Amino acid sequence: MSRTRLALIGCGGMSQTHLRRFHVLADRLELKAAVDTDIAKAQAVAQHFPGLKVAADYRQILDQVDAVLIVLPHHLHHPVGIACLRAGKHLLLEKPMANSERECLDLIAAAKTADRTLMIAYCMRFHPLVVRMKELLDQRAYGECFQVSIWTEQHTQYPPEHWASRAATLGGGQFFSHGCHYIDILLWYLGSPLRGTHLGTNTGTPWMEREGTSNVSLEFEGGRLGYHFGTWGARGTRLGYSFHAHCTEGMIEAAISEKRLIAHAGGKTEVLLEAESGKHTENEMAHFLDCIEQKRQPLTDGPGSLQGLRVIWRLYEAERENRVADLRGLGLDEYQG
Ligand SMILES: NC(=O)c1ccc[n+]([C@@H]2O[C@H](COP(=O)([O-])OP(=O)(O)OC[C@H]3O[C@@H](n4cnc5c(N)ncnc54)[C@H](O)[C@@H]3O)[C@@H](O)[C@H]2O)c1
Repeated sequence: MSRTRLALIGCGGMSQTHLRRFHVLADRLELKAAVDTDIAKAQAVAQHFPGLKVAADYRQILDQVDAVLIVLPHHLHHPVGIACLRAGKHLLLEKPMANSERECLDLIAAAKTADRTLMIAYCMRFHPLVVRMKELLDQRAYGECFQVSIWTEQHTQYPPEHWASRAATLGGGQFFSHGCHYIDILLWYLGSPLRGTHLGTNTGTPWMEREGTSNVSLEFEGGRLGYHFGTWGARGTRLGYSFHAHCTEGMIEAAISEKRLIAHAGGKTEVLLEAESGKHTENEMAHFLDCIEQKRQPLTDGPGSLQGLRVIWRLYEAERENRVADLRGLGLDEYQG
């Protein structure tokens, strides 16, 4: 089978994580081009991939690839993504899909018109501990789940002039940029949300124009609850990245930073699975290639990803208006099937 020829567009921080994992898929994936307006960054990639095309403008390399991986500032996801889809390229697009509902709908429609794969790079969905926790919840291995809590505590500080420090280019604050991973996972684990609240602050993270710390509480159908605490202001942490699922017969803990999935049940503690920490982007990329080759809908497709962003936008709106958000009817049925 021929290898999928890929262009990397955006060679900044997150691209390095992707690049480190490409070798795992060398028999299915050929990195053909690296693009960055800061050409030195694209040239640095070429040092590790001899023969790589390097460009400052993505339009110069599109005719040489089948697919693109976009790792750009959020306000560029829409214009560059639309151009790549219209050029007939499959698209793996870093999260969050885009900064507005209109832009997300445009991307979904462009993928449909071009009959190309559009997948959003929610890498935590492909983390072995997170995937195993989903399987155990679906199997009711520890009874009925009634509460999932997710902590993500890190220190993330960009310079004031960086796109990620400003709300207009980031698309919001920490919750939109980073919390989108965990809203996506809470919907995946717990189903349809009914109502919820977000409280954010930039006390402790004055470098952020919007919130750098978020507390999110969600109620799902069946009375299940979801919680996310995320901060970019942690100067120390014990939990790091940690998921707790409380079920009627025990608690499942994905101690991501400790690299272990643990069951706490019947007074005993059992390690169920171990996995290296970090981002398992090789699993994410393998899924993208599967979807292209088998014409399958990605697990993290456009409509599903928009659903999570709609939750975030409704929570932001309700926070501004000092009320609980109504999260019923996220309204993406028209795109399914
Ligand atoms: N999944 C994760 O865990 C994770 C973590 C960090 C970042 N991200 C995502 O990755 C994306 C990029 O974030 P980052 O931290 O790498 O940002 P970054 O600022 O480090 O990198 C962005 C790069 O894009 C380049 N660029 C800007 N405009 C361009 C253009 N028009 N054409 C080509 N290149 C251009 C910049 O020069 C820079 O090198 C965002 O969507 C972000 O949310 C995901």
